[in-house]
Amino acid sequence: MTILHLQLAEELLAQFGSPLYVYDQATLLATIARITRAVPYNQKHFHFASVTNGNIALLQIFRAAGWGLHANTPGDVVLGLQADFAPEQIVYSGSNLNRAEMQQMLDWRVATLNLDSLSQLELLCDLVRDVPEQSRPRLGFRLNLPEITGENRIGVSPAELLQATDVAANVGLKVSGIHFYRGTGTNVTSAFTESIARVIEVGQQLPDWEYLDFGGGFGYPYREGQIGFSWEEFGAELACQLQQLTRPVKLIIEPGRAAIAACGTLLARVVSVKWQGQKQIVGLDTSVANIAVLSVHGGYREIQALKDSSGEKYQTDLCGNTTFSRDYLGRNCSLPKLAVNDIVAILDVGAYGYAMASHFLHRPRPAEVLLDGNTFRLIRRRESYQVLLEQL
Ligand SMILES: Cc1ncc(COP(=O)(O)O)c(C=O)c1O
Repeated sequence: MTILHLQLAEELLAQFGSPLYVYDQATLLATIARITRAVPYNQKHFHFASVTNGNIALLQIFRAAGWGLHANTPGDVVLGLQADFAPEQIVYSGSNLNRAEMQQMLDWRVATLNLDSLSQLELLCDLVRDVPEQSRPRLGFRLNLPEITGENRIGVSPAELLQATDVAANVGLKVSGIHFYRGTGTNVTSAFTESIARVIEVGQQLPDWEYLDFGGGFGYPYREGQIGFSWEEFGAELACQLQQLTRPVKLIIEPGRAAIAACGTLLARVVSVKWQGQKQIVGLDTSVANIAVLSVHGGYREIQALKDSSGEKYQTDLCGNTTFSRDYLGRNCSLPKLAVNDIVAILDVGAYGYAMASHFLHRPRPAEVLLDGNTFRLIRRRESYQVLLEQL
């Protein structure tokens, strides 16, 4: 259910234009608090995965709530630093940096680097030789456990992990962390809990094991009534198993989608309505370029009409403002009769929403607004057509 009622939506669109990304701070803070509480382990650190949403104002909310930042790419680090995260609060767990980018990570003093191959380790070793002891990053590896995740391109095998400790030792580095990523958007809690024991078993083979980064991939229930990933069940099991270790380790968790999805809504206006038999075909003033996940991954987001919906409902397709064949925001939705200028709310788009918006189809990207109780403020300006010409 959206917290956006018609009057507020009209006010926002009148002031900032349509389509518009709207984030609700109270929802975000409640989600952060719930996730933080759910893991009853003393040495825990949450790092928001900004791959899902890089808006600086939202990153600042995570920082103020005591979370660090998880960077997938150097660009994530740039955004994190801009949001005033200290380099010590940034964990990089990514893939395939080139030499200049690896050097950049060292120059930024990103405190924790979780690498995904021995080849990346060789590059790091080459660059770290001249870096004084106290300025070197903490080093970990993404584990590749195909018996749990299925075939996966990212990470090293347990055998390679042990090789890595020798390679790192040549330049005086310790491998002190393991990073594990169970899956993307997985709502089946047991998929996570059942993998904990094996991950810990591999970690225990590391002579200098200091931290476990249990990644992201935690699901979010996009469909009404869907059973979502249980933070409480996962947190209790993970804490229980970690507490049994004779040598305690620090715990890092990098939620993306699960933390930010719920607080985001994309508002759009109806610009055209036609009927094909019994089906209502509604044209909106947005497109899948603003919410690419729907056409790229075939994802589902609930769509509500901000008007009296108590009467008869009709099978409705909601289409974008292009002729791209996959330009559907929603198919076979059950909605009241809509009219030009009505407003629809596309829910739960805080994650992989604006972050995946592109200039495909050559429409400038929307603005973003943050709601805080009865007040709101612009947190990213709407682009103009100038953006399409900027690099010429
Ligand atoms: C290493 C790592 N951690 C965390 C995340 C966030 O994932 P999710 O949004 O599924 O929690 C990603 C996403 O790409 C990732 O690659």
